[in-house]
Amino acid sequence: MKTVLVTGAAGFIGSCVVRQWIQDTDWKVVALDALTYAGNLASLAPVSDSGRFQFVPADIRDAEAVRAAITGYQPDLIAHLAAESHVDRSIHGPRDFIETNVVGTFVMLEEARAYWAALPEERKANFRFHHISTDEVFGTLGEDGYFSETTAYAPNSPYSASKAGSDHLVRAWYHTYGFPAVTTNCSNNYGPYHFPEKLIPLMILNGLAGKPLPVYGDGKNIRDWLFVEDHARALRLVLERGQVGEVYCIGGRAERTNLQVVSLLCEILDELHPKGAPHNRLVTFVKDRPGHDRRYAIDCSKIEQELGWKQQESFETGLRKTVQWFLDNPEWVQNVQSGDYRHWVDLNYAERSTG
Ligand code: NAD
Ligand code: TYD
Repeated sequence: MKTVLVTGAAGFIGSCVVRQWIQDTDWKVVALDALTYAGNLASLAPVSDSGRFQFVPADIRDAEAVRAAITGYQPDLIAHLAAESHVDRSIHGPRDFIETNVVGTFVMLEEARAYWAALPEERKANFRFHHISTDEVFGTLGEDGYFSETTAYAPNSPYSASKAGSDHLVRAWYHTYGFPAVTTNCSNNYGPYHFPEKLIPLMILNGLAGKPLPVYGDGKNIRDWLFVEDHARALRLVLERGQVGEVYCIGGRAERTNLQVVSLLCEILDELHPKGAPHNRLVTFVKDRPGHDRRYAIDCSKIEQELGWKQQESFETGLRKTVQWFLDNPEWVQNVQSGDYRHWVDLNYAERSTG
């Protein structure tokens, strides 16, 4: 039985990865997270009773805590997702992004490298460190073209600059130390358990509450949307079959302007929540985000051809499932909106930290 250590495991994508890998594999999953505002233990509740699940409260900037987790649980694989992830927050307060995304990744690399170097030969040969990154490191596209594994880096926001920094560290650790790392750069995810500061969950919850739907600028910025469960499947494939030192781009082949996303959401809401219809009356244009990247789009043919990955969900079916999930899970939503999850999480964290 393999043991995989997942950092950022209580976040949106990390929790999906943990739920899916507990459900679909016989792996033991060690879920490491510092439980910042974005971390929510309730997102791990569906698998927390599994005998193969273990939660470890730890901050990736804390080398001793990371060392204790790695040496204590002896992982075969590490999937590193912990990060500050919201562009708007990075504009208002970039420090946490540099500290967690750059320095925290450095700490992860150094602790994982020391552990890997001391492993017996066979385990050493099979060990993998997978760094989960974003397509935002490539900057912005014009009207045509795609990002791919060979696109030059040109990050434009403090968030994307910090992720670019971490990507470069991972690359250097492979080239300098032979450390068996692999990196993926993925487009915008959406799906269940998404923290409602990001476009799609924010629009769903505002729409349900009859509140304005704030569209930045002219609403014509384009993102390439991928259902989070398809991303989690891709990440597992890369851990299992990806080549050390390689980079894989992952995308949804689902380019939409923000206005197209919001219009489709309004149509789905009209159908599933007719009380508030027509929801598109709530669309409100607001001041643009500074440095707002115009277009992201991924050419994901490498992971499709080399590893046989294929997404299972179209944007339309995935978005409908997502809206339905938010309608079916008012308790999770209420906890997040009221901030109660923090109180519960803080207590839990303190208890677990002190043993
Ligand atoms: P998220 O903000 O929902 O979750 C991040 C998690 O990391 C949280 O649980 C948080 O508590 C934890 N964390 C933050 N700082 C930490 C620290 N110092 N130590 C330990 N844990 C810490 O983010 P997400 O959307 O799930 O993104 C996960 C990863 O995937 C990130 O690395 C992000 O850059 C990358 N990514 C995200 C997207 C997307 O669309 N959301 C797309 C491509 C790549
Ligand atoms: P977001 O979900 O923050 O992801 P990212 O900035 O990492 O791509 O935003 C997605 C797009 O939606 C982006 O172009 C900004 C835009 N947006 C809005 O128009 N209104 C909003 O309230 C938010 C949060 C985002």
